Amino acid sequence: TMLTPAKQETIVITAGGTREAIDPVRFIGNRSTGKMGMALANAALKAGYRVHLIVGQVEVAVPKSPHLIVERVETTRDMLTAVERAFTTATGLIMAAAVADYAPAEVATQKLKKQGDAGLTIQLQQNPDILATMGANKRADQWVVGFAAETNDLDTYATRKLMTKQADLIIGNDVTQVGAGFGTDTNIVTLYQNGQAPVRLAPATKAEVAAQIIQFIQQRF
Ligand code: PMT
Repeated sequence: TMLTPAKQETIVITAGGTREAIDPVRFIGNRSTGKMGMALANAALKAGYRVHLIVGQVEVAVPKSPHLIVERVETTRDMLTAVERAFTTATGLIMAAAVADYAPAEVATQKLKKQGDAGLTIQLQQNPDILATMGANKRADQWVVGFAAETNDLDTYATRKLMTKQADLIIGNDVTQVGAGFGTDTNIVTLYQNGQAPVRLAPATKAEVAAQIIQFIQQRF
């Protein structure tokens, strides 16, 4: 039945955007709503997987299921810690979250005051790369899937991310395309695998795209 997963396998899925604090009232964020990640969680549950969902900032409801664990995080570092812990007992990871590459080097403990006409400079330092960390440390029986959100040269950058992050699959989306990327209910994606021709999926709802991605993963990994 729907309540008994056919598999005991767990997939770790990240959804939404990370936030990096500047001071107690301000943060650096991004436009992810969590729709793509949530659609993947639903599709994985439907396909009979257990899901450990790690959620940043989202604008949509989190699914409810006895086969779902939900963990909320704020920063990239929080997300890394949660993913590392969850992945030890999982077979796969899908990083649909939009993760901040940089965070303020120091978080002000008090609200920053206006600095005047000279402007304000915030020093940023690079965050760890969660997907690359998991790609480098995965066991032979584990797979990792990432996204590539690009505004140009999707094939080039997605293929590069496949290599540098040691991912088994990269799902590329050109976020400047109408009906693709952040906030939309639809997506237009291409699947990149090492040594294979890119697989371009037809534009479809995020639910349909997610179902196709889960099916692709089931067939290959
Ligand atoms: O949430 P929605 O509104 O539905 O929008 C969906 C989406 C556009 C967010 C989604 O389809 C998507 O593309 N997610 C990935 C966004 C992103 O951070 O892409 P990237 O190309 O910057 O990163 C590449 C991959 O590395 C991603 O899997 C990302 O999760 C991961 N990453 C990035 C940086 C970092 N420090 N650690 C990471 O793990």
